[in-house]
Amino acid sequence: MEFAKRLQPLQSNVFADMDKAKAAALAAGREIIDLSLGSSDLPAEAHVIEAIAQSLYDPSTHGYLLFHGTKSFRQAAANWYENKFGIKVDPETEVLPLIGSQEGTAHLPLAVLNPGDFALLLDPGYPSHMGGVYLASGQIYAMPLLEENNFLPVFNDIPAPVVAQSRMMVLSYPHNPTAAIATLEFFQEAVAFCQQHNIVLVHDFPYVDLVFPEDEGNNHAHTPSLVPSILQADPDKSISIEFFTLSKSYNMGGFRIGYAIGNPELIRALRQVKAAVDFNQYRGILNGAIAALTGSQIGVEKGVAIFRQRRDTFINALHRIGWYVPTPKATMYIWAKLPANCSLNSQEFCIQLVKQTGVAASPGSGFGKSGEGYVRFALVHEPTILETAVERIAEFLNSLS
Ligand SMILES: Cc1ncc(COP(=O)(O)O)c(C=O)c1O
Repeated sequence: MEFAKRLQPLQSNVFADMDKAKAAALAAGREIIDLSLGSSDLPAEAHVIEAIAQSLYDPSTHGYLLFHGTKSFRQAAANWYENKFGIKVDPETEVLPLIGSQEGTAHLPLAVLNPGDFALLLDPGYPSHMGGVYLASGQIYAMPLLEENNFLPVFNDIPAPVVAQSRMMVLSYPHNPTAAIATLEFFQEAVAFCQQHNIVLVHDFPYVDLVFPEDEGNNHAHTPSLVPSILQADPDKSISIEFFTLSKSYNMGGFRIGYAIGNPELIRALRQVKAAVDFNQYRGILNGAIAALTGSQIGVEKGVAIFRQRRDTFINALHRIGWYVPTPKATMYIWAKLPANCSLNSQEFCIQLVKQTGVAASPGSGFGKSGEGYVRFALVHEPTILETAVERIAEFLNSLS
């Protein structure tokens, strides 16, 4: 059967090779420690589950949910945003519920790009950002993220003809996979650049809460936020749209619920695309999300403390075995540069590692060309398991030398 050409770039996937290697290691009887997926192992809060459970028994939640029916969710999202960032948001025109934020960032290019238009994406970056541009028949300009630039893109390095053909830029800080964070000044620079060149500015913001303050006792739910929102740099919402999810802060990845906040024209355009595709998430899940956003934030604080402890355990263990990796200030990831004496590329490293030790990590090249030379570990296990993983990594590294 012949399929559309736009599917072709979606077929080469470093992660699919990793999955095969993982499956082979499992079949060979290895005990897998999977640090390759950024899916939280922590449970959703009891009050969230309760709200969803109650909804299940309420037949009024069982039908299609049209946009006007999502008002209470949009209001909760607007209030949550205002509390954290001090910027007013109109729940009618500036908030859009999503079936997970990935759905929104992947659909947005259909609303913004004409075939052949450029999208400026982070390299390395989150794979669905690229996928969405390919599905919209757009072109990608990969903005390299280098350690010497704190993993931030340099806008002046983008060739002028590309800028002239660009319709959107996607940023995402705290960043997956590098764990870098951005300052408000950097966002102001991005807003000025995009305003000057008539480019839509997208900020994917799943790790808004997963930030580790210097002061260890201060793992509060961060009101105000410790990291900036793109709308703080564009308070008139002139060109920007920001994507949020309940997957990370509230451990609700499987429930598929997120939202976009931003420029009303962009919100309307994305809603038009979605209207052709879906009828919103199930009302009961929206009710759970409202409980999460408006209820006690102690669960968020606990999650931050847990990921901080895991980060410290993993980094200390890596340092003990002589792999010196910087301590990230945010996210659930460790972005580790391959040791200088390692001759494998990141994909070979991860495939050999899982085959020989059962420890699964993500090759940096899977996130883009500039990710080569790095591997990403997702801290989605308890500290004792992370210690075991590092012991196995040490044996693997020794076997290489
Ligand atoms: C940058 C980024 N965007 C989006 C997502 C997915 O979020 P959601 O579960 O809301 O689709 C992730 C998940 O790892 C992510 O790292």
